[in-house]
Amino acid sequence: MFIVTKLWISNYGYEKAKKSIDDSLKKLQSSYIDLLLLHQPFGDYYGAYRAMEEAYKQGKLRAIGVSNFYPDRYVDLCNFAEVVPAVNQVETHVFNQQKTAREYMKKYGTQIMAWGPFAEGKNNMFKNETLVSIGEKYGKSSAQTALRFLVQEGIVVIPKSVKKERMEQNINIFDFKLTDDEIGRIRSLDLGHSLFFSHQDPQTVEMIINLPR
Ligand SMILES: NC(=O)c1ccc[n+]([C@@H]2O[C@H](COP(=O)([O-])OP(=O)(O)OC[C@H]3O[C@@H](n4cnc5c(N)ncnc54)[C@H](OP(=O)(O)O)[C@@H]3O)[C@@H](O)[C@H]2O)c1
Repeated sequence: MFIVTKLWISNYGYEKAKKSIDDSLKKLQSSYIDLLLLHQPFGDYYGAYRAMEEAYKQGKLRAIGVSNFYPDRYVDLCNFAEVVPAVNQVETHVFNQQKTAREYMKKYGTQIMAWGPFAEGKNNMFKNETLVSIGEKYGKSSAQTALRFLVQEGIVVIPKSVKKERMEQNINIFDFKLTDDEIGRIRSLDLGHSLFFSHQDPQTVEMIINLPR
């Protein structure tokens, strides 16, 4: 078991975040959380991050990090926070490979974690010809080929499925290895932008801030 949870914007600011961390520990009936992430780079996330740094030093949080921090916000936080985020969880899949973001995370020492590693099926990912044909060689599905690509690129993946057989399929990716040529072919699928929304778009910022919580 590796317990990960996030702080939502409504719990940002030092005092509210401090209370929210203790509330989460109570709800989880645990004395620690393995990894706590700031969910979005909006509002008083610096205050919230200070509370996380404090709880990290107290051992309540074993690691702290962020989510949806694009390179501009991420670099800013790394330069003013005491503890470099251990993880930045951002939309990452074969169509949005986060090449620039990964360079900055490597520079400051943060592990990228992919949300939406299948792009939630967008762009017909599960039937993508490149993924299907490469996967056939190894007796693997396009989903497994996509996950294997991300893992070989050094990306942590958190695929979601409600189906047991797909969960089994999604973890069964450690018995084959893509060649350099295959990695190159999948790298060329990158469109270099989100298939969902941009956290730098003012309308998206308003939409996220107003989400009910
Ligand atoms: N930090 C953030 O802001 C953020 C944003 C979005 C998501 N997330 C997190 O990211 C994780 C990934 O979830 P996600 O929902 O975004 O997307 P995802 O993992 O890219 O895609 C999930 C979809 O793929 C299907 N699927 C799973 N395995 C499959 C397989 N082997 N073959 C065919 N279809 C398959 C699932 O259907 P079935 O369930 O029917 O199998 C579901 O429709 C979740 O833990 C989620 O909470 C975080």
